[in-house]
Amino acid sequence: MYPVIEWKNDKVYMLDQRLLPVEEVMIEHSNYREVAASIKDMVIRGAPAIGVAAAMGMALGIVNAGEDYLKEYPVIHKTIAETRPTAVNLFWALDRMDKLFQQYKDDYQVLRAKMIEEAQQIDRDDVEINRKIGENGHVVLKSGQTVLTHCNAGALATAGYGTALGVVRGAVENGKKISVIADETRPYLQGARLTVWELQQDNIPVTLITDNMAGYFMSKGKIDAVIVGADRIAANGDAANKIGTYSVAILAKYHNIPFYVAAPKSTIDITLESGVQIPIEERAKEEVIFFREQRIAREETEVFNPAFDVTPNHLITAIITEAGVVYPDFKTGIARIFNS
Ligand code: MRU
Repeated sequence: MYPVIEWKNDKVYMLDQRLLPVEEVMIEHSNYREVAASIKDMVIRGAPAIGVAAAMGMALGIVNAGEDYLKEYPVIHKTIAETRPTAVNLFWALDRMDKLFQQYKDDYQVLRAKMIEEAQQIDRDDVEINRKIGENGHVVLKSGQTVLTHCNAGALATAGYGTALGVVRGAVENGKKISVIADETRPYLQGARLTVWELQQDNIPVTLITDNMAGYFMSKGKIDAVIVGADRIAANGDAANKIGTYSVAILAKYHNIPFYVAAPKSTIDITLESGVQIPIEERAKEEVIFFREQRIAREETEVFNPAFDVTPNHLITAIITEAGVVYPDFKTGIARIFNS
């Protein structure tokens, strides 16, 4: 499978997701500032992939800082921490790298080697975790079913395999025939550009719809389950994901369709009691007043562009993690997977 992100010879390479599906271009990053810019500008996106990029950015920062590493470290950390606020995997990865820094900061050579190793380990672990999510989650799907997904929670949003699409892949690997309906996911079109592209690569049947068609297909009985990813899940199960997920969850509830969130434990922020505490990123108005390069509204137009919304736990059927499938009540279930 194509690499989403890769550490090679003290450089970080990323597939430029802004150009997909038209062009497949790998971008080289020689310093942490370039990595931070690529996270902010959506070269790489999706919560787990952002976590891997953050870890590699930290390692690259230490590699390039040389003798100044103690002075540079807080700046590197802050620059990466300020890229995107909602996906908690970014802060989870920074915490993991920070623990290592605190442990080995007295010896630069050892620290340098440990940081590189840890960033690559986070990358490798993520693929394994997603496979486990797929193994645990595919039992919720039956052969012949059609799954609606929103945004891209696939291989491109992770180090590989995907979370929501990991469940689909898990089902397909277990011999089930599964079709996917992908919401286009305005304004950034992750569904149309990324989900459709990556499922086509794997020959998994996928059909694209615009976001406002989901209710129609649900009312016609064409959707058996909804599976989405998450950027941050609070301790009570409220889940932040791409803007529009909340609307899909309400539609699913109305039509009695199960609504699943698939995410690694690193997406669960047990320090937050509920979803109201999750910070929601606001992005540039250009994403809304342009459709790709085509202007669709005048420059002076007032725009709202929240990148995420929060689906309250009562709309969620189950949360599928590498540690098992958690059903309501989520507060108890989530506490259990963190204590086991
Ligand atoms: O703005 P993005 O593209 O980073 O948003 C991505 C999503 O909302 C994904 O669904 C989420 O990060 C889960 S990825 C496994």
